[in-house]
Amino acid sequence: MIPMRLFVNKVQGKIDRNLYGHFSQHLGRCIHEGIWVGKDSHIPNTDGIRNDVIEALRKVGVPVLRWPGGCFADEYHWKDGIGPTDRRARMINNNWGGVVEDNHFGTHEFLRLCELIEAEPYISGNVGSGTVQEMQEWVEYMTRDGESTMANWRKQNGRELPWKIKYFGVGNENRGCSGNMRPEYYADLYRIYQTYVRNYDGNETYRIACGPNEDNYHWTEVLMREASKYMDGLSLHYYTIPTGDWSDKGYATGFDEQGWFETLKRTLRMDTLIVQHSKIMDVYDPKKKVGLIIDEWGTWYNVEPGTNPGFLYQQNTLRDALVAGINLNLFNKYSDRVRMANIAQVVNVLQALILTEGEKMLLTPTYHVFDMYKGHQDADRLLLDYESPDYTYGQESIPQISASASKDNEGMIHLTACNLNHIESATIQCVIDGGSFTIVSGRVLTDRVLDAHNTFESPERLRPTTLNRAELHEGILTFTLPPASVSVLELR
Ligand code: AHR
Repeated sequence: MIPMRLFVNKVQGKIDRNLYGHFSQHLGRCIHEGIWVGKDSHIPNTDGIRNDVIEALRKVGVPVLRWPGGCFADEYHWKDGIGPTDRRARMINNNWGGVVEDNHFGTHEFLRLCELIEAEPYISGNVGSGTVQEMQEWVEYMTRDGESTMANWRKQNGRELPWKIKYFGVGNENRGCSGNMRPEYYADLYRIYQTYVRNYDGNETYRIACGPNEDNYHWTEVLMREASKYMDGLSLHYYTIPTGDWSDKGYATGFDEQGWFETLKRTLRMDTLIVQHSKIMDVYDPKKKVGLIIDEWGTWYNVEPGTNPGFLYQQNTLRDALVAGINLNLFNKYSDRVRMANIAQVVNVLQALILTEGEKMLLTPTYHVFDMYKGHQDADRLLLDYESPDYTYGQESIPQISASASKDNEGMIHLTACNLNHIESATIQCVIDGGSFTIVSGRVLTDRVLDAHNTFESPERLRPTTLNRAELHEGILTFTLPPASVSVLELR
């Protein structure tokens, strides 16, 4: 029995809804086929955007959606993606498979998607191969009301009112695919570019600077030292790779117990990365004005055999569900500094929530975790005291339990818990301190097979079921987490 204590009246801060954010890139079949099928498609759509995907994304609650990249963003020239679709310039997608990008899904289409799913747009601007003027004009085009060259052009293209664009990234991975810059050089560029990301007509932009990859603490140090007073957010990218070797990352399915353990061990590194980058940020920004924006995270495997290596298409199993559950609990834990996170990517790419094949669509285990956790969005994080037993495999140990709790504005408590151990269940006895509650629901996502996943033949193989044996008596909540599982309990 694992003792736990939940303090209902000890609020630790607010969990920003944007921690449950997403990322869409012109990469493989994310935009084309996954989201955008065009108005003339036989696949049911609204203004060219798949209806089944709209419905799934509305249901899961997407607070914020990042676009158009990724590495693609710093080769993207927004003017190619506006106006009549048949007259839009075509380009080569040099980063992802060298395929032709027809630019039919551009600014208007992306912002229409955001309206349909009620998500805040997060636009990544082009620093690597774009000019200051190009970035300035994009912001003006989207957000300027009244008379201006760009605003008039937007109106000619059918959009009278400006959009509200809160989140704007000034470049993506300019330390790598988008310019191979030194931090000192990028910091200076950032200061220039962000100056021209102007606030027009009441639009208030939250400017996000390109941050470090993984443990590149030097990058964080330089950016914070040289440019923190000009930024609202600094990004961090960290992908979970089972082998730790980019040349052979391991596959999404068919892994063994070691592949399970190693993956979860590596994903837990997110804890250290957040803590260490935050320490540096604290030196330059003790009031925590600048948010850590983890705008790319998730698993990255070898692509599915037979698929285009540049398309990053991978299956999604129970292991991915654990990766999602663990990371989301961590983001909750550090919500004082982490203000946004965007899993990569929303459809058909890397740790996707949704997979499509022609007119078919399925929801992955990762989707179900986001659905189970959505009660945390904008809720008050509660103090949850517990000491996890070790989960040992071979010579190594990691914590067996990852958990988080919050109270939403209707007084409902959401307790999410992962059992990382692939063999042993975990029975938890949680004292509820500070109120009298009853269990409203308990759901669990689990399977005896570690690489259980959904396919187009069997799309519902893995989905949440009722968490049995959860009881609440005299202020003590007792529940058992099956091996290899993600659960959520709701109390009122
Ligand atoms: O998400 C895939 C790629 O990973 C992104 O385009 C890039 O920013 C990162 O390296």
